[in-house]
Amino acid sequence: MPILIRSVTIRRAGCFVWALPGDVFPVAVSPKDAGDPARLSSEMSGTKLRLRRAGLNDVEYLLALQIEPDVAPFLAAGRAASREELLEEVERSLIEPAAFGRLLIEAPVEREWRLVGAIGFERTNKRSRIANIGGLAIHPDFRGHGLGKAAVHELARVLFESLDYHRLEAAVYSFNERGMAVIENAGFVREGVRRRAYRPHDEWVDAVWFGLLVEEFDAGP
Ligand SMILES: CC(C)(COP(=O)(O)OP(=O)(O)OC[C@H]1O[C@@H](n2cnc3c(N)ncnc32)[C@H](O)[C@@H]1OP(=O)(O)O)[C@@H](O)C(=O)NCCC(=O)NCCS
Repeated sequence: MPILIRSVTIRRAGCFVWALPGDVFPVAVSPKDAGDPARLSSEMSGTKLRLRRAGLNDVEYLLALQIEPDVAPFLAAGRAASREELLEEVERSLIEPAAFGRLLIEAPVEREWRLVGAIGFERTNKRSRIANIGGLAIHPDFRGHGLGKAAVHELARVLFESLDYHRLEAAVYSFNERGMAVIENAGFVREGVRRRAYRPHDEWVDAVWFGLLVEEFDAGP
């Protein structure tokens, strides 16, 4: 069903990005938005996957991904949930590219780059150059191939090497064993537990906090 959004003009580095009322966003696999000046392209490309800053056309994909039954229970309960909220986040990501990111994960599938998931970051302390990583989701069709770990690692590389962050943090619900495995596999160190801090569903649950310092980061081959 066609979806209408308000007209948005974003100016950055002398360029404009337009999203006009009447744009249709039915895509499950979106094409590259070559005209998007805020795109993270060569900066964020690896051999196994690449990260791309979400454009306005990607809101439908983000929405569909995060309501997947094997995704939704594991993401932060307070995340942007509606189309409107996601659109605001994508706009913010385009306007404040060093402080906030809504990113898509793409991987080569049958010789084509395909959307396989999403990840994000947010600066939480400007003076100490700390960012939080969150919103990680790999679509169930593409799991178990190391893409989650590779996406976290690639985002850490960009945040350290290109955006000059000093410390990255991630919080995972304590029931999310897969999520914790991915964060630890990407090099993060388990730093502590916030006891019964959140109630994503019916019960209070612990949140396990992980951290990664720039001097600990192994960029790898
Ligand atoms: C977590 C998620 C991103 C992992 O994606 P993925 O591409 O399958 O991740 P990877 O293949 O890189 O690694 C998965 C790891 O989890 C481990 N794992 C899988 N199921 C597990 C379980 N039930 N308990 C413990 N570890 C488990 C795998 O063994 C693997 O670790 P290994 O490489 O050391 O063997 C994906 O499952 C997902 O989107 N989940 C829903 C959203 C979510 O949990 N997001 C993370 C919030 S921090």
